[in-house]
Amino acid sequence: MQGEKKILYSAVQPTNNLTIGNYIGAVSNWVNLQNSYDCVFAIANMHAITVRQNPAELRKNTLSLLALYIACGIDPQKCVLYLQSHVHEHAELAWVLNTFTYVGEMERMTQFKDKSARHADNINMGLMDYPVLMAADILLYLADVVPVGVDQRQHLEITRDIAVRFNNIYSPTFVVPEGLYMKVGAKIGDLLDPSKKMSKSAENANGSVFMSDDRDTIIRKFKRAVTDSGSEIKYDPENKPGVSNLLSIYSVFTGKGMEECEREFSGCGYGDFKLAVGEAVADKLTPIQAEQARLLSDKAYLDGILREGAEKASARARRTLAKVYKKIGFYQV
Ligand code: TYM
Repeated sequence: MQGEKKILYSAVQPTNNLTIGNYIGAVSNWVNLQNSYDCVFAIANMHAITVRQNPAELRKNTLSLLALYIACGIDPQKCVLYLQSHVHEHAELAWVLNTFTYVGEMERMTQFKDKSARHADNINMGLMDYPVLMAADILLYLADVVPVGVDQRQHLEITRDIAVRFNNIYSPTFVVPEGLYMKVGAKIGDLLDPSKKMSKSAENANGSVFMSDDRDTIIRKFKRAVTDSGSEIKYDPENKPGVSNLLSIYSVFTGKGMEECEREFSGCGYGDFKLAVGEAVADKLTPIQAEQARLLSDKAYLDGILREGAEKASARARRTLAKVYKKIGFYQV
C-alpha cells in the first residue's frame, strides 16, 4: 500500500485497434477507480511483440494508446502512465520469476493454446512466457488490485501462485494481488457471435466495434448485431446472450444501471433497441476520438508524460527488484 491508498495496476497491449471490449473491461473501469486507488497503468509493448509486429505500426499504436488513455479520462497527474519497455526491471524480474514457474503451467494457459493455434508458424518462447512477464509487471509494483476482463483471470491466478510460491520460499516479498472484475462488462461478446469474446483480431471485423470506428460504421455494426429468439429485452446472459451483451454495452456507455436500462427498453422492438445502443456508443466515442486526435498532434506533451511516467515507475520497480535480488542471493557491491 502506498500512503493511504491501495495500489492498482493494469495494462493494455498497443496492438491493432482497441475494441469497445477493451474499453468496457479495462479503460472505462480505470477511469472510475483512479480516485480511490494509487494507480499505475502501463502500455504493454513487450507483451505485444509475442506476436510479430510491424515496427512503425507498433510505435504509432503506442502513442495512439497513450492518447486514448488520456482522452478516455485517465488523468496523468493522478496516475502513473508509462511504457513497459522504458522500465527494464520488467524483463529482469520476469527472468527471476521464470525459475519459479513450471513449463507445464504455461502450457496449460488457455490464451497460449489459442494464440498458438492462430499463429502456428510462430509459437515462440515469449508467447509461452507471456503470463510470467505479466506477473512481473504486477508484482514489481506491489499491486493490491488488478482490474481486467475475465479473459485475463487465468493469468492473474498464476501471478498469485508465483507470488505465494516466492513468499513461502523466502519471506513475504510480494503482495498477492486480487483481480477486479466488473459485474457487467467483464466479457463483452462479439456482435455476430456473443459466445465469443469481442476481439481486436476477430476474423470478421463487423463483430467488433473499434474505438476508432466512425459514427456510421458503429451504427451499421449494431444494426447487424445478432439478437435472440423472443422479443423481450432483458438481462439474461444464459438464455439471451445477444440481448444481454447489448444491454451490458448500453449500461456501461450510458452509466445507467441494468434495471434502468431494462425499464427503458420494455416494450421496444429489437430494431429500435439496437439503434439506441449504437447511438449511445457513437455519442460517447465521438468526443473521445476528437480529444485523442488533438493529443496526438502534441507529441512533445505525450513524450513528456512517458518520460515522467518512466521515472516514477522505475523508482518503484527498482526497489522491489533490489529486494528480490538480495533474497535470492545475487551478490551486491
Ligand atoms: P489486452 O490488451 O488483450 O486487453 C486489455 C484489457 O481489455 C480486456 N478485454 C476485455 N474485457 C471485456 N470484454 C472483452 N471482449 C475484452 N477484450 C479484452 C482484457 O481483459 C484486459 O483487461 N495481458 C494483458 C495486458 C497486460 C496486463 C498486465 C494486464 C500486460 N501486463 C498486467 C493487467 C496487469 C492483455 O493482453 O490485455
